[in-house]
Amino acid sequence: MLNNTPPANQLLVIFGASGDLAERKLYPSLFKLYQRGLLPESFAVIGVSRTVYTDVLFRSHIQQQILNLEQDKAEVSTQLNQFLQQLYYVHFDTHKEEEYAQLRKRVDELLPTLGDTDRILYYLATPPLMYEIIPTCLKAHQLTTAQSDAGWRRIIVEKPFGSDLASAIKLGDLLQTIFSEPNIYRIDHYLGKETVQNMLVLRFSNGIFEPLWNRNYIDFVEISAAEMLGVEERGKYYDSAGALRDMIQNHLLQLMAFVTMEAPANFEAESIRNEVDKVFMSIRPYTTPKQIDQSVVRAQYTEQTLDGTQLKGYRQEEYIAKDSTTETFVAMKLYIDNWRWSDVPFFIRTGKCLPEKKSEITIHFKSTPVQLFAGQCSGSSCNKLTIRIQPDESISLKFGLKLPGLGYEVKQVSMDFKYNSLQETTLPDAYERLLIDAMEGDPTLYPRSSTLQTSWRFIDPILCHWNEKGAEGLCFYPARTNGPEEQLLLLHEPLSFKNADFADTPQKCDIT
Ligand code: BG6
Repeated sequence: MLNNTPPANQLLVIFGASGDLAERKLYPSLFKLYQRGLLPESFAVIGVSRTVYTDVLFRSHIQQQILNLEQDKAEVSTQLNQFLQQLYYVHFDTHKEEEYAQLRKRVDELLPTLGDTDRILYYLATPPLMYEIIPTCLKAHQLTTAQSDAGWRRIIVEKPFGSDLASAIKLGDLLQTIFSEPNIYRIDHYLGKETVQNMLVLRFSNGIFEPLWNRNYIDFVEISAAEMLGVEERGKYYDSAGALRDMIQNHLLQLMAFVTMEAPANFEAESIRNEVDKVFMSIRPYTTPKQIDQSVVRAQYTEQTLDGTQLKGYRQEEYIAKDSTTETFVAMKLYIDNWRWSDVPFFIRTGKCLPEKKSEITIHFKSTPVQLFAGQCSGSSCNKLTIRIQPDESISLKFGLKLPGLGYEVKQVSMDFKYNSLQETTLPDAYERLLIDAMEGDPTLYPRSSTLQTSWRFIDPILCHWNEKGAEGLCFYPARTNGPEEQLLLLHEPLSFKNADFADTPQKCDIT
């Protein structure tokens, strides 16, 4: 957990060092940690990638990347220069085992300069096809075993962890032959978000929510992550993944687990992970194709002209097959079969090329049993608690209020808390939190292998069914609209779903 004591001295080795993730997220996060004095006292980063850089060129490239993100470039320049001195670079072809000798040499030179350090954290920020190759090659060069009792070798693996249950098990098994389970960190950056962690604090540090947080008082729950951008330059990866694998199997189901888990016995990592595991084990599986068709809607964005601008459809994006059936939007209804949540629908949605970027959790409470007031709101959108994960992070509670005056007219109002009203307004990036946790050896916010496998077990039948159906049942929505109309068909119960914000103006679905 983040406290103000830096982790023990260590070396961080980043594979995929010149890639998009490393440049956009990892180095800027490391720099922020450096500015806050949270990096280890003796610390170095070795970037590994195929692009040819010297240490000096690599540093100046990263300097540029970080400066691009900084408002006040002059103010950070001294600190940035000091930070950059901790970065080193080795370029080689990571497919070839023999080339890892170069990394071995660099590690052997650097480790002794970091004081009494026998600790190496590897970060796989590479395409998933490298997740088996790199650890195997590291092992072949004795880079995966510590030389002393106080030492360790850890690995952070980016998502996607597998592309289905079988591949997740295979990858998990392989990693466990090289690193011990406590040293494997499977990252889900949603769990590093401040607002997601606050879900635990909101629920378990306040007495007022928990008594209502169950099937007796909650009508349904919405969890949505809308994105405005399309697939951009990630077409190659995305076309083999799709929204179900890319967002739902990991980010959104993990969010759901934080919303629904029981209070842990204490705030230890394993206690929290136990409760998360139980939620995943209680998700009701879809057992027939019909159930899948009735509960999950998939769709793809199509081209359109908006305000004079021509927006590409998914099939016009780079690297995407002209007849691709990969979904860029998924809406699904699922249930958690346990004592707290039995029969409460969870409506989960995500999509690319929607009108705005917005991730939100909304708890819809049941309405009063009797309507005493004329004009009183009825249905489950009257009292709702909305937790905005991003952007404009906030929490808002909606309820009915008597309009001042002679009658009893009811008006819906809301109590809002906005994160930017706090004095400390800058929320740390998810990667800052997750990097420091892995450096400290705290796995609380990293999913367990068993949790990921349970999640794939739930997702696999849907993938398999879609695979069999091909284009049949795939819906379409024009770019920058709210997704297909078909999503509303999931919602015949409860009716108030239909008032949910996300789907205000659905587009017609063309079933092919
Ligand atoms: C990534 C997905 O894991 O999460 C991307 O691969 C998606 O497709 C991204 O855009 C969304 O993350 P965030 O933090 O911007 O909501």
